[in-house]
Amino acid sequence: MKKILLLSTIVTLAVFCQRDPYREGSRLYAVHCSNCHGENGQGLGELIPPLAQADFITQYRDELACILVNGLNDTIVVNGKTYFGQAMPANRELSDIQVTNILNFIQHSWGNPKQDFTLENVRALLSRCP
Ligand code: HEC
Repeated sequence: MKKILLLSTIVTLAVFCQRDPYREGSRLYAVHCSNCHGENGQGLGELIPPLAQADFITQYRDELACILVNGLNDTIVVNGKTYFGQAMPANRELSDIQVTNILNFIQHSWGNPKQDFTLENVRALLSRCP
């Protein structure tokens, strides 16, 4: 009986994960990011840069993990628009796995280029944050 229960749990989990592998990233995005960057990654006017089809995501791919964890207070150009004066807060409580899941959710949303990050990738990037 226990075995059947365990097996059905595993099958359910597998089906769940297959249906939406970015579910955890999507949930974390809703909690930590969407307030500012918007439900559809659209950003907010002159204040908050977009994540949807943002050239920054590709150009600064190796910076993204550190930005998520440590925040950002800089002058940046995203899709030809300059953003400054608004800081992005740090998210130091996020685990390496959570950072990976958020990044991959962003990569696979809103027409972004679907270039996955592996956990090893993210760990290496986080070990070199400025
Ligand atoms: C309080 C508002 C706020 C929250 C919450 C926030 N950000 Fe930001 N984010 C900003 C601002 C403002 C900037 C630009 C900062 C600057 O100009 O230095 C930014 C910049 C960025 C950038 C680089 C520019 C771009 O648009 O590609 C990325 C990537 C990013 N944020 C991702 C995230 C993710 C992922 C989360 C959730 C973990 C998040 N942000 C949470 C406000 C926020």
